[in-house]
Amino acid sequence: MKINEIYGMSVVLQNAINIDPIHPSRKSETLFGGLASMSSQNSPETMGHLIQQKPYYLSAGDEIKLFEVAFAAKIPLMLKGPTGCGKTRFVEYMSYRLKRPLITVACHEDLFASDLLGRYLLKKDETVWVDGPLTRAVRMGAICYLDEIVEARKDTTVVIHPLTDNRRTLSIDKKGEIVQAHPDFMVVISYNPGYQSVLKDLKQSTRQRFVSLEFDYPEAQKEAEIVSHEGDIGMDTALKLVTLAGKIRNIREHGLTEGASTRLLIYAAQIIRRGIPVHEACRSAICFPLTDDARLQETLNDLVEDIF
Ligand SMILES: Nc1ncnc2c1ncn2[C@@H]1O[C@H](COP(=O)(O)OP(=O)(O)OP(=O)(O)O)[C@@H](O)[C@H]1O
Ligand SMILES: [Mg+2]
Repeated sequence: MKINEIYGMSVVLQNAINIDPIHPSRKSETLFGGLASMSSQNSPETMGHLIQQKPYYLSAGDEIKLFEVAFAAKIPLMLKGPTGCGKTRFVEYMSYRLKRPLITVACHEDLFASDLLGRYLLKKDETVWVDGPLTRAVRMGAICYLDEIVEARKDTTVVIHPLTDNRRTLSIDKKGEIVQAHPDFMVVISYNPGYQSVLKDLKQSTRQRFVSLEFDYPEAQKEAEIVSHEGDIGMDTALKLVTLAGKIRNIREHGLTEGASTRLLIYAAQIIRRGIPVHEACRSAICFPLTDDARLQETLNDLVEDIF
């Protein structure tokens, strides 16, 4: 386990690197044990970021094929879809499948270009350049997953433009360096169209650099399998949770901004498994997180009572 990396920001590595510039002192890495691919391109650095254990992922259609084709063709990929429907899990799975390291950056409005590119830091009496997560990914040939890209500042999205067209270069102005991307480098961005507003939408010049994959909640039988697997409960309860989610997703137009996610169903399953009565579990894990509106809560409660 490597713990000596400095980004001047927090780095949490869990099958990947997640950065949080707000808490520079919080830094930890969690790596899976064992070794994965031993290709000659894999430096010890690269190896450190490989996902070692196959993530559980149930495919919904031909998304695996499309990812593989995009990777081979060096085309960046955009994943669109509601929260908790499997985008991150899919990228983790593909990173494992393609034996490429994964570096994840959670984008937010205080994310500066330098947080991605790197910066000069004072070390003893010297200033040393420290690559940011994007630069590291570009050099090592990682899959760089920019989560919720719409949240990032405009200057941040512009940084990725030369990287996501046929140039595949990263320009580090502060260092006067132009880095040519490693042949295996790939950018994947995620984006929730549900949160879209006029102020926070991706520019055409950004979105037209990506092949796009639409994600949605899996179809009922598959979603129940996922809930059963991840929540470690029987299929009968999992199917009921999925039926409940289906009904909630149908009333979305009547005030809910987004339907119950697969993630919430898994939470419900996990707490049912640990002894919380079903009604209470559904309320705590599904109904309450979705809305504060008392009337909607009543409707959601009625649905729970109908199904369980
Ligand atoms: N197709 C799938 N196969 C296996 N697990 C899945 C699948 N879809 C969803 N899950 C489960 O649902 C959970 C939530 O999915 P995930 O974190 O990938 O959502 P997301 O789309 O990235 O959400 P967000 O936009 O909020 O980041 C996962 O941790 C996983 O347990
Ligand atoms: Mg995610």
